[in-house]
Amino acid sequence: MSAQVEQSLEVIVLAAGKGTRMYSDLPKVLHELAGEPLLAHVLRCVKQLSPRAVHVVYGHGAEAVRSRFQSEKVNWILQSEQQGTGHAVKTALPSLHPDSKALIVYGDVPLADPVELSALTEAADAGRPALLTAKLDNPNGYGRVVRMENGSVRRIVEQKDAGSAELRITEVNTGFVAAKVSDLARWLERVDNCNAQKEYYLTDLIAVAANEGCAIADKQVLDAASVQGVNSKTDLALLERYYQRKRAGTYLQQGVTIIDPGRLDVRGEVAFGCDCVVDVNVVLQGPLQIGDGVYIEANSIIRRSTIGDHVHIKPHCVIEGAAIGPKAIIGPFARIRPGTKTADDVHIGNFVEVKNSALGSGTKVNHLSYVGDSTVGSGVNIGAGVITCNYDGKYKHQTQIGDNVFVGSDSQLIAPVKLGDGAIVGAGSTITHDVPADTLALGRAKQKLVKSRRRPQKKDSD
Ligand code: UD1
Ligand code: MG
Repeated sequence: MSAQVEQSLEVIVLAAGKGTRMYSDLPKVLHELAGEPLLAHVLRCVKQLSPRAVHVVYGHGAEAVRSRFQSEKVNWILQSEQQGTGHAVKTALPSLHPDSKALIVYGDVPLADPVELSALTEAADAGRPALLTAKLDNPNGYGRVVRMENGSVRRIVEQKDAGSAELRITEVNTGFVAAKVSDLARWLERVDNCNAQKEYYLTDLIAVAANEGCAIADKQVLDAASVQGVNSKTDLALLERYYQRKRAGTYLQQGVTIIDPGRLDVRGEVAFGCDCVVDVNVVLQGPLQIGDGVYIEANSIIRRSTIGDHVHIKPHCVIEGAAIGPKAIIGPFARIRPGTKTADDVHIGNFVEVKNSALGSGTKVNHLSYVGDSTVGSGVNIGAGVITCNYDGKYKHQTQIGDNVFVGSDSQLIAPVKLGDGAIVGAGSTITHDVPADTLALGRAKQKLVKSRRRPQKKDSD
């Protein structure tokens, strides 16, 4: 066989289990950490090792898992009956080249460090499996690593099969194992299911290899939290906090001011410019590009957007799918929906909703308005309570507002409609026809004055 195949790495991801301890209908690997399924984190991690192939063993919730990852370039292997992690690997092995090295990873351990996995893979060789272990203060639930007097690994005992002395061991099996494919096939043939769970444990291959006289290469992970598995909602919540602290730590190191790193949630790709400040309880979801000098006040959610330099986002805003130009002031309580694009110096104030609209330079919509499917020029002032009525019950229509237009408060612009440059709409107007440039439009009932009209008086009998 060519040296290339001997050197090549193939990854097996075990993702067929139900996740009984999650008490959920959703397959475990689809539960989300930082806004992405556990399996997405695992696949991103292993792809950094540039393997020749990634094989995903799936089974429980097969349709849901495959359709969620249909665009991934992986080899799907169905394990129709989940008879344990050893059985899962055995099911996958015929799809691997016998001379490859296999790295086995669990789909419910999402945050491993690819550098450590790479070192683990290096440590494995023909007749020598490599095992990644971790020291945990609380090893509850994990398989324990049993060593011989000389310190070498002898076997792994699962929690449910462990005696009281073994339960006191704090070194655990992380689940990451690397070995030659042909060795794995041989060792797994000898693994049985005589244990508390009546399952074929992958972990038993360590004892089988040791019995064969093989030395087990073991590495202890530096950051034990990075290899924590998710078996329950408690595990998931704890790992989410670990992940978020770590991400906040990275941003702090890059110079972002984060008022409380424990109260920031970042999901997906999020990049900050220089001198940004983020107040508490902010949720940022990528892809999100934040410029220089951006100030995000408390309690905002910003998703899939670009935020220009020196933008000030006041408290309680929801911004999604928008491109906000430099020096904008947004909120408090603004909702910016997908398709919104603003030039520089735009102000969008409290209780304003903007959807699928372009706003020109210096334009202001400061209070209680709805701007949808609109093109708004520069220097426009939209008063309080203005509505672009874009929907006729079946179709959406466009509103076009030129430069330097003034729209008085409590007006409705019934789309499709155009306001020319410099047009003025009197407050309280309902505009149903286009307004030419530099023209005042008044579309409201004329005020009547009725003299000596008195309010009805209450009678004594009432
Ligand atoms: C497993 C290990 C344990 C280790 C821990 C680390 C075994 C027997 N035990 O325990 O030593 O400390 O992980 O997190 O391996 N899966 C399949 N097919 C199956 C069974 C499971 O694909 O038939 C998948 C699951 O979807 C999951 C992974 O394998 O992603 C691990 O299974 P899980 O049941 O979570 O094992 P643990 O009890 O966590
Ligand atoms: Mg697990």
